Amino acid sequence: MVPCHSLLLPVLVLLAWFISTEGRSLKCSPGKSCSDRTPVVIIPGDLGNQLEAKLDKPSVVHYICYKKTNDYFTLWLNMELLVPVAIDCWIDNIRLIYNRTTRTSDAPVGVDIRVPGFGETDTVEYLDPSKSSVWMYFFAIVQGLVNDGYVRGDDIRGAPYDWRKAPNGNKAYFLALQQMIEEMAHKAGRPVALIAHSMGNVYTLYFLNHQPQAWKDKYIKTFIALGAPWAGVAKTIRVVTSGDNNKIPLISSLKIRTQQRTAVSTIWLFPNANTWPADKVLLQAPNANYTVKDYQRFFQDIDYPEGWEMRKDTESLVSALEPPGVAVHCLFGSGVPTAEAYQYATFPDAEPTKVTYGDGDGTVNLLSSTQCKRWVGKQPHPVKLVELPANEHVNMLLNQTTVAYIKAVLNQP
Ligand SMILES: *[C@@H]1O[C@H](CO)[C@@H](O)[C@H](O)[C@H]1NC(C)=O
Ligand SMILES: *[C@@H]1O[C@H](CO)[C@@H](O)[C@H](O)[C@H]1NC(C)=O
Ligand SMILES: *[C@@H]1O[C@H](CO)[C@@H](O)[C@H](O)[C@H]1NC(C)=O
Repeated sequence: MVPCHSLLLPVLVLLAWFISTEGRSLKCSPGKSCSDRTPVVIIPGDLGNQLEAKLDKPSVVHYICYKKTNDYFTLWLNMELLVPVAIDCWIDNIRLIYNRTTRTSDAPVGVDIRVPGFGETDTVEYLDPSKSSVWMYFFAIVQGLVNDGYVRGDDIRGAPYDWRKAPNGNKAYFLALQQMIEEMAHKAGRPVALIAHSMGNVYTLYFLNHQPQAWKDKYIKTFIALGAPWAGVAKTIRVVTSGDNNKIPLISSLKIRTQQRTAVSTIWLFPNANTWPADKVLLQAPNANYTVKDYQRFFQDIDYPEGWEMRKDTESLVSALEPPGVAVHCLFGSGVPTAEAYQYATFPDAEPTKVTYGDGDGTVNLLSSTQCKRWVGKQPHPVKLVELPANEHVNMLLNQTTVAYIKAVLNQP
């Protein structure tokens, strides 16, 4: 016999769902104060928010490395940890370990990583907790909106995440993001604007592709995309091949490559075969040329077979570039030389001998950042492409033209 409460349970669950999603209206009603500002959620890019670590490790790679810490400390961005020798400890803490069975990547044993500041803006305004202007990130945009009445941590909030991972490794994040958006929308009595930068846009696209249209219609006013690598970035090939010290001279590229290869998100952002021409050589090595069709061989040849597994796990996450189903403002920098192909005389353990540049924002190739054009006419919501001439990938966030554009979009009825 079926006990009656087992029949009741699904009804209760449904009811609870109905109350939580539909019970409160976004509309302003008498007695409910409504904001005249569109709430804003910021989704940062790769390397674009702070990470903290707490250690209790069985062993360390060098005697100067901490084995155990009593509390969390800043792992990214903390320049003090990136100096010679200390960087070995840092790499051993920030690297991920891929498990072929579970197809997930985790921190080494005894390393606990957390993302500080979810719901706040601090950890996305500056990458460095000391707020050095060199590492200014979303500050100009946040401050610009605060000058207009926005309140940090209230109606403008950040959604930082573990950017080493691709969306398939960040399930809890998307749930937290959804809840924060709902909470902000209900509080303000109006739908939310999402502002993303760089990889944060592809994260946002993944998120929106997984939300029902009714949810998006209710909670999202607009999606402002800044410098989005919709179809990947050519530079990721170099990062995985020989490392990239981001022009920080103290850091050896080959050394930091160890960590960079384990970051699944970098491999996720390899140039996408759905957009890149199949005959375009991305990397020319003495014994082979590699195009978007040759990634399996590429990972074999660089002796990093796990990379191919990660590629297979992540390639299809957004590669179809399904329309997001919300209004989109797609801002992209152009006119800055952007690497599009590499030549190696020694492969893969040396810097490239020749870099070929094309158009883009210095990081994201124009071919990729303009792929939002695919959505024009493919969804009922408007899709607007806005070129930002001479805007570099990160500097576009600091440019007052960008800040003014964002304000104008937020002020639209
Ligand atoms: C991978 O995960 C499985 C399942 O949790 C576990 O049994 C195995 O030990 C892991 N492999 C490594 C190399 O950690
Ligand atoms: C790679 O492409 C270049 C330029 O097209 C060509 O000269 C070279 O022979 C090719 N290398 C290999 C190994 O196929
Ligand atoms: C800001 O962006 C505009 C175009 O959107 C560009 O003309 C201008 O040079 C940029 N300013 C700076 C300081 O980069």
